[in-house]
Amino acid sequence: MSPRSRGTWVLLFLVIIATLYVETSSSKVDPFAAKKKRMSEKVRQMFYHAYGNYMTYAFPHDELKPLTKTFTDSLIELGNLRLERLPQGYNGSALTLIESLSSLAILGNDTEFERAVNWLSENLTFDVDARINLFECNIRVLGGLVSAHILATDSTNRLTRGTYQNQLLVLAEELGQRLLPAFDTPTGLPYAWINLKYGVMENEITETSTSGCGSLILEMGALSHLTGDPRFESAALRALRKLWSMRSSLNLLGTTLDVETGEWIEYSSGIGAGVDSFYEYLLKAHILFGREELWKMFQSAYQAVQKYFRHGPWYHEADMRTGRATYWQLTSLQAFWPGLQVLIGDVAAANSSHREFFYVWQKFGVLPERYLLDHHMLHPTEKYYPLRPELAESTFYLYQATKDPWYLEVGESIVDSLNFHTRVEGGFASIRDVTTMELEDHQHSFFLAETCKYLYLLFDDSFLVNGNYVFTTEGHPLPILSSWHERLPEAYIPSNWTVVQREKHPRRASAMSLQICPAIIPNCRHNYQLLESACHIPDARADHRCLVDEDCGVDSTSCRRRLCSSAGYCGIWQLI
Ligand SMILES: *[C@@H]1O[C@H](CO)[C@@H](O)[C@H](O)[C@H]1NC(C)=O
Ligand SMILES: *[C@@H]1O[C@H](CO)[C@@H](O)[C@H](O)[C@H]1NC(C)=O
Ligand SMILES: *[C@@H]1O[C@H](CO)[C@@H](O)[C@H](O)[C@H]1NC(C)=O
Ligand SMILES: *[C@@H]1O[C@H](CO)[C@@H](O)[C@H](O)[C@H]1NC(C)=O
Ligand SMILES: *[C@@H]1O[C@H](CO)[C@@H](O)[C@H](O)[C@H]1NC(C)=O
Repeated sequence: MSPRSRGTWVLLFLVIIATLYVETSSSKVDPFAAKKKRMSEKVRQMFYHAYGNYMTYAFPHDELKPLTKTFTDSLIELGNLRLERLPQGYNGSALTLIESLSSLAILGNDTEFERAVNWLSENLTFDVDARINLFECNIRVLGGLVSAHILATDSTNRLTRGTYQNQLLVLAEELGQRLLPAFDTPTGLPYAWINLKYGVMENEITETSTSGCGSLILEMGALSHLTGDPRFESAALRALRKLWSMRSSLNLLGTTLDVETGEWIEYSSGIGAGVDSFYEYLLKAHILFGREELWKMFQSAYQAVQKYFRHGPWYHEADMRTGRATYWQLTSLQAFWPGLQVLIGDVAAANSSHREFFYVWQKFGVLPERYLLDHHMLHPTEKYYPLRPELAESTFYLYQATKDPWYLEVGESIVDSLNFHTRVEGGFASIRDVTTMELEDHQHSFFLAETCKYLYLLFDDSFLVNGNYVFTTEGHPLPILSSWHERLPEAYIPSNWTVVQREKHPRRASAMSLQICPAIIPNCRHNYQLLESACHIPDARADHRCLVDEDCGVDSTSCRRRLCSSAGYCGIWQLI
């Protein structure tokens, strides 16, 4: 049984969940309760339509082909665009079932959760001749198992028959051990590919991506904390530190690199494909494990993104060496960024980018994979929409942070488009071309792990009110436990300590306000007086609320001071 976190850790959105939950449950009836009930029911139906068809036509293979009602063993294909070296006789690892576990728990389907846990406990093996992508296997399989293990053993007693003896953790540990040889390189940066049975293959490709070697720490770190074996966390941390050491003087990273030489291959990068979850994991790993080092990395990296990639509400790519813009493209993966911004309280910036993504969604009916901002046209070959979750994810975070009912409408619109364009008798199908809405015979596992989950949580967050979680980049929840924290980092000290600190160190500008505001509003120098970084609330109290305005920092789009509301959370709606 894992103890729940009782405070110390701050997520703006959790503050607001708690606040609004108390407000709505004690004083007034939520005027949107009926809509939320109707919509969460609709999303529940979507999940079961996807899940039931997978179980009928594809399980225990990896993913469902909803048009032909058959299966694909896609774990070995993920990231492997050329489909090279695919083994014969690989029959799948029940990938979609593993990915569905945490969603089943959130939907409260304990009997099905238990059935799935039992099946996997008895039948899943990683002793297979399969060359898999380290990143994909980590976020989908390891993350799915670790999260489900925690949910299986938490205080809600989901497993009624009492036969669970940490089998998912045993599986996760076995998988973790099979992934470790990938890290055995001169640089500590892991290979992108590893064979689960035989380890790193001869003449293996040495190219990997920033996200591929920089977003392993949540799952590997959680595995270390659960098993007591520090090797997983160390390997992931070593890789992350090495990657960070390769940043340019502008604090930018590239997109692809060589794990043997530690040299960059592609110097241009942005916040989308190949990089996205690197940023996400710096912040989330700091929240989960409390390492000050990670927070510092995140702050520098975030500043550099806002400074060099951002153009109004859009983000383009830039060359890491010069900071010069390279590609002016919107990619659908970038839509996760506003959600990340909510976690650090940069709500107005999140809101403005999220709106633009939603306008693009409305224009096409779904989000196209890539849109050329400079030519105002779709990318000629990347016109697809594979049921991606990122816009729903950001919508969920923004609704938690603001409770603005507009986000419920966005969610409803996403649900309606998905049902209208992608629902078929055999499940949900990806869209091959958003201009024709031609379908593709593939239901990705992340549709169950993420898309359905975030849409459901948007309308029904009852799962969240009793615990603090971070969601991995694949949407698997990990609880925030004080026992997983190294120590209380500086940023999380009580407010009265902040005052003492300020006397010792002369007032300094917020790292974020310094870097972000001047690019937008040059004459906002008075804001430099603020001590705190943008919206990172120092707090050692159980309710995670701000006490004074200075806890709230600066809003990075308007460059205005954020204020602490009487309810105890930061906002920009009371501008000075
Ligand atoms: C996969 O399935 C095929 C056909 O049922 C079978 O011959 C083969 O042994 C299976 N492979 C493994 C690794 O179980
Ligand atoms: C749980 O999932 C199973 C399998 O999809 C389904 O038959 C059952 O109705 C679900 N139970 C609840 C309470 O939703
Ligand atoms: C394991 O798989 C076999 C074959 O599919 C099945 O008969 C058995 O019931 C499974 N075990 C559990 C616990 O579901
Ligand atoms: C989000 O943007 C819209 C349109 O600019 C604005 O009306 C709304 O107040 C904003 N919400 C927040 C929380 O910033
Ligand atoms: C400062 O905070 C600490 C820890 O929360 C508390 O014990 C102490 O009484 C506070 N001091 C003042 C002057 O408020």
